[in-house]
Amino acid sequence: VSSNRLIVLAARPAGIPTAEHFRLVDEPVPQAGPGQAVVRNALMSVDPSMRPRMNDVPSYVAPFQIDRPLEGRALGEVVESRNPALPAGATVMHRFGWRDYALIDDGTVLDTTVAPASAYLGVLGNSGMTAYAGVVRVARLKAGETIYISAAAGAVGSAAGQIAKLLGATTIGSSGSEQNVRYLLDELHYDRAFQARDGQIAAELQRVAPEGIDVYFDNVGGETLDAALRALRPKGRIAACGTISSYNGEIPGAKNLFMMVSKRMRMEGFLVSEHFDVLPELIERIAPALRAGSFRAPETYFEGLERAAAALISLFDRTPKHGKVLVRLP
Ligand SMILES: NC(=O)c1ccc[n+]([C@@H]2O[C@H](COP(=O)([O-])OP(=O)(O)OC[C@H]3O[C@@H](n4cnc5c(N)ncnc54)[C@H](OP(=O)(O)O)[C@@H]3O)[C@@H](O)[C@H]2O)c1
Repeated sequence: VSSNRLIVLAARPAGIPTAEHFRLVDEPVPQAGPGQAVVRNALMSVDPSMRPRMNDVPSYVAPFQIDRPLEGRALGEVVESRNPALPAGATVMHRFGWRDYALIDDGTVLDTTVAPASAYLGVLGNSGMTAYAGVVRVARLKAGETIYISAAAGAVGSAAGQIAKLLGATTIGSSGSEQNVRYLLDELHYDRAFQARDGQIAAELQRVAPEGIDVYFDNVGGETLDAALRALRPKGRIAACGTISSYNGEIPGAKNLFMMVSKRMRMEGFLVSEHFDVLPELIERIAPALRAGSFRAPETYFEGLERAAAALISLFDRTPKHGKVLVRLP
């Protein structure tokens, strides 16, 4: 092979990205220098947090640069190595997706006999660890409590709902599509679920949880956060995981924040990067159910680097899909 295809940021989007914001470029396949390895990427993750990085605003991660390759977690086989910790033939996870070949100087060698490689980008990777940290450490969910999870069919949401259920909680999930609402109830063991339609979220949450909720796992923000603030009981807790409803532009802020005061509640934001140490506990807790097939780790695949932009866009355009969205490179 003589060429390495990469996807660069062609322009900064104003709303939901479209094909014109991405461009495929060709470069020579990189060669490993001292301490480096070349990985032929096989799978890459697309994540909602990539969208804010397409804006030129400072955040906890640096923005993507125009005409420079996008980045994201990916894994593949080491094809050339000058680093003994990343031997040729090993399956390695790293942060240089959006290209056929990645030049890396560090990465995580994966044990694919324990779990399929894709699990390390999903249920045993950032999505699962985010779900576990949010439910257990941030919200401190207890058996017998009721938790509401938004974007419940997604990568984080699908894991959070099942972890909450294993802890003995009553689970409520929402999704934008009717199809996913069925999936929440039939496959992910949610006790109750509703379709989140603009302008009706508070009424729907009230309908499925007339007795209120103890915990809100927030993936969405905006109107959904407002609805949850209303439904939370005194001393309720919010694990602030993400606000995907705002990633493509401005949304009105939450209007019900005074309820934090009147109901003496706690809202805590968190980043999975500060909770990577939950992994052994997460594995111990879910492995038996995962092996038995009762804990679902749904994945949605897009085929080929050419489809990577479509995969990212699918996180925002509300097309029905569930679980972790991944791009498979041939
Ligand atoms: N704090 C952390 O460290 C951390 C780490 C990972 C992820 N996150 C956050 O967790 C959330 C979920 O991430 P994920 O990777 O699991 O993605 P995901 O849920 O697999 O995909 C995003 C889903 O969000 C829903 N959605 C999209 N646009 C929306 C909108 N305008 N309003 C309401 N819902 C919308 C869609 O689901 P439906 O069509 O089914 O509604 C979509 O499939 C995101 O907010 C992300 O930023 C945080």
